[in-house]
Amino acid sequence: MTPKPYLTGHYTPVADEITATELTVEGVLPPELTGRLVRNSHNPKPGVTPTHWFKGSGMVHGIRLREGRAEWYRNRWVRTPALDGAPYLTEHGPDLTASTAGTHVIEHGGRLLALCEANLPFELTRDLDTVGPFDFDGKLHSAMTAHPKSDPVTGELHFFGSSPFPPYLTYYVADRDGHITHSAEVPGATASLKHDFAITRHHVVFVEGTVTFDPTEHSGIPYSWQDTQPARIGVLPRGPQGAAAIRWFPIEPGSMLHVANAYEDAQGRIVLEGPTVDRKGFQLSWNWWVGAPGRGTEPNTRSFNRRWTIDLVGARVDERVVDDLAIEFPTLNEDFVGVENRYQYAISFPDQHGLGGYGVVKYDRTTGERRTHQAGDARLPSEAVFVPAAGGTREDDGYLLTVVSDLKQDASQLLILDAAALDPIATVHLPRRVTAGIHGSWIPDTTL
Ligand SMILES: [Fe+2]
Repeated sequence: MTPKPYLTGHYTPVADEITATELTVEGVLPPELTGRLVRNSHNPKPGVTPTHWFKGSGMVHGIRLREGRAEWYRNRWVRTPALDGAPYLTEHGPDLTASTAGTHVIEHGGRLLALCEANLPFELTRDLDTVGPFDFDGKLHSAMTAHPKSDPVTGELHFFGSSPFPPYLTYYVADRDGHITHSAEVPGATASLKHDFAITRHHVVFVEGTVTFDPTEHSGIPYSWQDTQPARIGVLPRGPQGAAAIRWFPIEPGSMLHVANAYEDAQGRIVLEGPTVDRKGFQLSWNWWVGAPGRGTEPNTRSFNRRWTIDLVGARVDERVVDDLAIEFPTLNEDFVGVENRYQYAISFPDQHGLGGYGVVKYDRTTGERRTHQAGDARLPSEAVFVPAAGGTREDDGYLLTVVSDLKQDASQLLILDAAALDPIATVHLPRRVTAGIHGSWIPDTTL
């Protein structure tokens, strides 16, 4: 039997947990990089073959930097009931603690949380040991998205829970200390898959794409592309009464996994961007995710950055593909979440024919310039996390942190790029190859 693509090559799981100290550094680590880079990945236990890439148990890799030194690397499985085989569906309904907790890891209110969209967050210690499920003191009544948005002005955490069954969509806001201050069911939502969303200064933006609940899909993730599912964008005002005022705008069929950013432009229109696949791109990607024939060579195929401009007054949406490079994992200087960003970062993948390489991409949205740091042969960089430089004044004054999986060396390095020019500044050699994963965060010591 052909091995599953998500268990081979860059995605080969690691078999154990290790801790290594005093890592070798090439170049000079900026001293303000004092904190932890934490990354999540799908990493089933040895001998386990999940039926879907996303069903692999979560493993968090952490790299501790402090004042110019790389103090440690460690990796730990997130110890959820699912790691020991507990089923998600029980006779009492879904067990929201039976989670891979393998999609993202963030900090909010001084808590480190491993996230997966079908489940409750799992709290971790600063050393990546599992504390347990976290339900915001009983106020989180649903699963929680793996892509909450931290408002850079208020410090609030905006997020949602979605489900293939009613209520399909619940919107939450937690204050900067991690207390949920309000939640509301969003009327009119459907079972369309909602992996990510956006906030602007005054609005919340949901995207319902053409991929929706399909009980006949047996990979363990019951969704498929269905032409009968209308694609649309929902916009609601922020605030406790906002959900009832949601307006839905039809868009072209497609599936957007990740939001790059959204903001209100000078005319008050809402601009939303994110890499999006069409029907063919979705099928090639999905077949990779489940290890089926007819898959693309990469987990993200034909994933092109798309821009929607929503005129709330005229109730019109302008929609266009803004680049022809296959990308995923968009990131930005998070001080610009919800406001107009000039710079956008992403990871580029070979095209649907396997041509082209992996790289870290930077878009200048003002000039239209695209710059790429090519990762090199058989080297796959992870989502590039932006960290502002101390005393920086420009939006791109800072660093991009990416963990490169290097198949030829069977090793990984933490690569630190200057975010302005994409030039390498420092490399931290890690004691093992880190499984190519999904999302991660930089957690400065000032917040944890
Ligand atoms: Fe994601």
